[in-house]
Amino acid sequence: MQFDARIDGKLIRCRITSDRDLKAPAFCFSCMVPVDVVEGGKRLSATGGHAEVALPDLKAGQPHDVILRHENPEFTPANRAWLPLGANLRMQDGSLALPPLPDGVRQAPRDSAAADWPRVCPQPTRAMAAAGHLVATSFAAPEIDPLSAADDLATRVGLGPFLSGDGAPLALEKDTSLPPEAYRLRLTPEGAQLGYADRAGALHGAVTLLTLARAHDGRIPCGLIEDAPRFGWRGQHLDCARHFYSVDTILRLLDLMALLKLNRFHWHFADDEAVRLDLDSLPELGRTHFRGEGELIPGVFGGGIRSGGGYSRADVTRILDRAADLGIEVMPEIEVPAHALALARVYPGTRDPEETGTERSVQGYAANVMNPAMKESWRVWHAMVDEIAGLFPFDVIHLGCDELPEGTWQGSPAARRLMADEGLDTTDDLQGWTINRLARRVAEHGKTPAAWEEAARGKTGIENGAILFSWTGQGPGLEAARAGYKVVMTPAQHVYLDMAHTADPEDWGANWAAVIALQDTVAWDPVPGDDPALADNIIGVQGTFWSEFTTRDAQIEAMLMPRLLGVATMAWQDRGSADPALLPRLAAAYQPILAAMGWQSA
Ligand code: ACM
Repeated sequence: MQFDARIDGKLIRCRITSDRDLKAPAFCFSCMVPVDVVEGGKRLSATGGHAEVALPDLKAGQPHDVILRHENPEFTPANRAWLPLGANLRMQDGSLALPPLPDGVRQAPRDSAAADWPRVCPQPTRAMAAAGHLVATSFAAPEIDPLSAADDLATRVGLGPFLSGDGAPLALEKDTSLPPEAYRLRLTPEGAQLGYADRAGALHGAVTLLTLARAHDGRIPCGLIEDAPRFGWRGQHLDCARHFYSVDTILRLLDLMALLKLNRFHWHFADDEAVRLDLDSLPELGRTHFRGEGELIPGVFGGGIRSGGGYSRADVTRILDRAADLGIEVMPEIEVPAHALALARVYPGTRDPEETGTERSVQGYAANVMNPAMKESWRVWHAMVDEIAGLFPFDVIHLGCDELPEGTWQGSPAARRLMADEGLDTTDDLQGWTINRLARRVAEHGKTPAAWEEAARGKTGIENGAILFSWTGQGPGLEAARAGYKVVMTPAQHVYLDMAHTADPEDWGANWAAVIALQDTVAWDPVPGDDPALADNIIGVQGTFWSEFTTRDAQIEAMLMPRLLGVATMAWQDRGSADPALLPRLAAAYQPILAAMGWQSA
């Protein structure tokens, strides 16, 4: 006599196989909650979750199926404990055909990571396990966008193919009732069904399926996944000014981001050391691309004798095309008025010749700030905004505006005259006035300006239409959100991935903000206290990577991973759902994926 039961969505499928003929036995069992019989018998009686079900005659060796469903459809069966317990068959003479079947016991997970079902980061909003596995490494579905984009991604990173004619069936189901970026994935032993409302949702669902297939080694636990992001802005920043990363490295980062459902790439290509974009309107920028002996900037930050590079228009197009395919928007950053040593050197007219100030930047640079009282500064800034607005399709342009050295412009007679004319008293006032004026230029292109948190300072500060990036911690972001700004949280103590993982002197990375272990990346809440007044204005979470100590592209790999899992978790998952203890296990589950990518993880 064999008895087997499994969960199939809302149904409980039981199969009874008797080893002898039985005349219309009663199937007696108990479930967690009251059940109805959908098929295979007739309920005779019920007491709570206990039921007796009349079966037809059973033939020796012929399986008979009984399908049950909870009376209350709100109570979806969640795991094996919800299957019939204490099941037996009672004959018409009252004898039991079966000794009571042993109740289920919690089986040890297949391995230590099995309890991490589903092995995907970020963890889905809802995941209801069902019995059985979908055995699949690829899927049969129409080769249409965005499934083809997921297939290209899989192939590129060594996880492919995602689509193949002889793969498990994958059915697409457009469901306009789903919110933006949401998806629903139904996994049964027979195949997968993907519900989505928009391209992003379909791509996220495909990425989840691809990830599950690899992380569960081709044996995907069945169930239902319903998933949607908490934040629309889920970003990663890369400082390509301190270190020049090849286009291929940036494309690889975009691939990794897409695997983690991150959808904003903050491209920091300008800083004190270089402005790496080729712009037709400012051809002299090419002189900043290399640093070292005889260059505008010496070999700071491991630059050595000569190092660097620039991004051509063709490079930008490659990056934008790949990002678009992966559903990632690219936000360019024009880093002004400070952190602009290279710009100030290549365009000396952006500094007041009468300047007497002796202030230094945190990196120790003198004269790294452009002067808003100089016409030349505005020519350069406007040219950058105008050309970049045309080059990048995303409707947000980041202007920079961090770490203006204290006392800046006080030693410039031209700046002091400007301050007097505009009724400005302090350096912060002049910074706010400057960045706001430049923000208006961005707005004239129909785009939204963004800036680091300092842009809110001063008498006016940047106007409220701007997005601010809170980096010294969450405090400035909370203050900005209360003042009406949209805010992206990138607190250095948790998501500056250039910080060292540990305090071990043999480790690698910065530590001025913190030492950031994997678990620290989720030990915060982007909207503390779930304050509804803030929730509307805090639009996202972003990881940041500065490159002061990077001399080879590959060095970012073990800095970003596995901690990018934490960034993705905070950016996607619902409040309070991040489980620090799960992160290391997810990191282990991602090892085969990273190994396939050739991406090193710490
Ligand atoms: C920053 O880390 N200076 C934005």
